[in-house]
Amino acid sequence: MVTVTQTPQKRLTMQVEEIAVDTTTMRSLDWDRDRFDIEYGLQNGTTYNSFLIRGEKVALVDTSHEKFRQLYFDTLTGLIDIASIDYLIISHTEPDHSGLVRDVLQIAPEITVVGSKVAIQFLENLVHTPFKRQIVKNGDRLDLGHGHELEFVIAPNLHWPDTIFTFDHKTQILYTCDAFGLHYCSDDTFDTNLEAISPDFQYYYECLMAPNARSVLSALKRMDELTHIEMIATGHGPLLRNHVQELTGRYRRWSQSQTKAETTVGIFYVSEYGYSDNLAHALATGINKTGVATEMVDLKTVDLQELQELVGRCAGIIIGMPPASNQAAQTALGTVLGAVKEKQAVGIFETGGGDDEPTYPLLNKFRSLGLHVAFPVIEIRETPTDNLYKRCEESGTDLAQWVTRDKSIKQMKSLGADLDKALGRISGGLYIITAKKGDVKSAMLASWVTQASFKPLGVSIAVAKDRAIESLMQVGDKFVLNVLEEGNYQGLMKHFLKRFAPGADRFEGVRTQPAENGAPILADALAYMECEVASRLDAGDHWIVYCTVYAGRVSKPEGVTAVHHRKVGNHY
Ligand SMILES: Cc1cc2nc3c(=O)[nH]c(=O)nc-3n(C[C@H](O)[C@H](O)[C@H](O)COP(=O)(O)O)c2cc1C
Repeated sequence: MVTVTQTPQKRLTMQVEEIAVDTTTMRSLDWDRDRFDIEYGLQNGTTYNSFLIRGEKVALVDTSHEKFRQLYFDTLTGLIDIASIDYLIISHTEPDHSGLVRDVLQIAPEITVVGSKVAIQFLENLVHTPFKRQIVKNGDRLDLGHGHELEFVIAPNLHWPDTIFTFDHKTQILYTCDAFGLHYCSDDTFDTNLEAISPDFQYYYECLMAPNARSVLSALKRMDELTHIEMIATGHGPLLRNHVQELTGRYRRWSQSQTKAETTVGIFYVSEYGYSDNLAHALATGINKTGVATEMVDLKTVDLQELQELVGRCAGIIIGMPPASNQAAQTALGTVLGAVKEKQAVGIFETGGGDDEPTYPLLNKFRSLGLHVAFPVIEIRETPTDNLYKRCEESGTDLAQWVTRDKSIKQMKSLGADLDKALGRISGGLYIITAKKGDVKSAMLASWVTQASFKPLGVSIAVAKDRAIESLMQVGDKFVLNVLEEGNYQGLMKHFLKRFAPGADRFEGVRTQPAENGAPILADALAYMECEVASRLDAGDHWIVYCTVYAGRVSKPEGVTAVHHRKVGNHY
């Protein structure tokens, strides 16, 4: 294994390793990247993985992020004369993997770029120079010689519309780019420590793959048709070699449970226009948190018949404003308008591509057709911030909670009377959880809080899956647990139980001071503890969040914790 470091401060390093016969990985390790797309939860950096396969002909699979330009080309030149590479396989055109394609084409103008039809189209707009190309369809093969026969698997929407997987029949490695990846940077090339990578693997799935769960299942079906898969060479994080079955099984399980959801929300936008992809994914994350499924549709390429059918069966629809000049997208939008029904929920977001139409005429049309506007239009004034993405997520949750409101009420009523009363005898204290991650802050009143361990000092908190604060309570996140005082909690309780608009500042008018970990300590709390999330257990509609406690203080030594007694077990 070879490691080339740029500067210790920047912590961008390259790792090169032979992963199979004739096959080398070049992993660009981005140790400190703390934000990626919509996953403001990113804790552990990320990697961009590129691969060199040498048969009689040579193929390069994906490149790297442009911030690795120097390091990447130094590394690649050390391995091969770049001009002699025959094929550049583009798994998809997102800039973190294709950021250096233009450079490769300059050095190796004779190279043939291999990709899906959509990827090649996107690439034309990206590189602005003619290049040799080979468009591949599902099942197409490319023989590199020495047994390296590559087979292509079309996997649209995982997570970009133009995605393909590549399977090498000799090494039985499947190159999947974003799919099965995770944002996790370590020296370990492989998935050796399953426990360490699991939270990031799941979080990545939830943010990027769950919104397209149907497409994930289609891709898995196509993967089943391949002979044995020895290794999954992902584009981010460790390569999967030790736990291929387990981790692909998780994708299958999670996607099956998503698609079983009775309620679906359609998100209609033009992919690759303005900030549409990231905003749409943030909205989808907020929707999926409630157990409602999403279908993400590119208005530019959708089949109008399918679009009409989908809109008809959606409980809610969200529109990302398409460019005024894109005729295909405008026609598709007309089809959406013709297919919507009364009582569906609707929301609109701007995409900031510079050619957006005003949103209000469209919103008024939906209103006049009897749809319920579930959240205020999400406007884009500048480059989206973490706060804007959080607002999108909360808007998605609000819309999904509205479309499932009848079901939620029915579920609450369905407990047997005796059981309900017995369960209601379980009581708890009253606490406010406050969290801050980057610029994003949130808070929630909680009573399902209990000490869970002495060594290490730990507490568990049950957090409903669709809570706004849930995305700030991922493994590794830090927050403050504020304990409310008997006789002095009404004001804080009332404040934090207000219905906040998506993205609202929940601390306005509340006296706070920052804890060491940055989260707000409430000045009127009886005590506070600084906590770090250690693990999360799936408990149906809640996450049991287990956290270690590493600091804390009491403001009044004689003060008593506020207790919350309940009458019934199906409310807090
Ligand atoms: C007495 C009481 C105790 C609560 N305890 C919890 C709890 O332990 N876990 C939880 O997820 N929600 C709990 N809730 C609900 C949330 O405090 C509150 O409804 C929520 O913050 C609003 O949702 P949002 O933050 O996603 O906008 C409790 C509510 C009340 C009234």
